Amino acid sequence: MPGATRLSGKDLLGLKNLTEDEIMLILRSAARMKARIDDTGKRSPELSGKSVVTLFYENSTRTKMSFMMAGKYLGASATDLGVATSSVNKGERLAETGINLDQMGVNMMIIRHQTTGAPHLLARNVRASVVNAGDGANEHPTQALLDLMTIYERLGGFDGLKVAILGDISHSRVARSNAFGLIRLGAKVTLAGPATLVSGSFRALGADVTTNILEAVEGSDVVMGLRIQLERDKAPNFPNLREYSSLFGVNARILKHAKKGALVMHPGPVNRGVELSADVIDGSQSVIYQQVKNGVAVRMALLKLLLSEEGD
Ligand code: CP
Repeated sequence: MPGATRLSGKDLLGLKNLTEDEIMLILRSAARMKARIDDTGKRSPELSGKSVVTLFYENSTRTKMSFMMAGKYLGASATDLGVATSSVNKGERLAETGINLDQMGVNMMIIRHQTTGAPHLLARNVRASVVNAGDGANEHPTQALLDLMTIYERLGGFDGLKVAILGDISHSRVARSNAFGLIRLGAKVTLAGPATLVSGSFRALGADVTTNILEAVEGSDVVMGLRIQLERDKAPNFPNLREYSSLFGVNARILKHAKKGALVMHPGPVNRGVELSADVIDGSQSVIYQQVKNGVAVRMALLKLLLSEEGD
């Protein structure tokens, strides 16, 4: 079969530098892994003896748990460092924490950190594979990969697709990773949000940028809402949530402007009634829970590709 059979490095730090071949390798492998989530009979302990540790300096439900479940489904040991109760709170540096875990024989470190570049710093200091589970407003590559998998499953390809990504773009590592991946695969991406939360600098990624949500949604194949990250800024970027949802939230009326049957996506957690109305979240076009399941499949694929001697 044409295309890559292995990823080029020991780490997965972002989508910015992944080739089309590498992205498609992960998506194809994830499609095969997916059957093992529900069918315990199809699971095989092919990563038995390998150890995976999660280091989450920021909160998470989906990403952390799906990495841990992915490791267990493939027979690896999966342990959470528990940053809040670790020696991080005694002032230990990130690189030092990694070097210590390396000495314990850890094969993969999965890190979420508030600082852009923290996974890259860790990767330079350890022998283990490092996977970026979200760094600052930079990248969240495994979220984008599961989003790509969901789009590929439902729409069968990317070339010429119109994808609207809406909301808090400035703080969003999900928007950046998706823009890198989608544009590389041939989709057209429009980023839209309030002027305080989206800047023209995103055009440098190859995306269109607008503050007009209807312009972004018009004729789109995919409508992706992003969470308003109220925890990031001390000063509010809009007057209040009610005003935000009335001007930038997606409801059934706005969704009618997208293509018939357009996918509704959100990385979660969703602020119900803010980024998306409840009827849109629970409606027939929503693939939000399919995204969560695909998150386990994508992470299984990555564990296998990065930890198994055979690759895919
Ligand atoms: N989408 C996402 O990253 O969710 P969590 O913060 O729950 O991991």
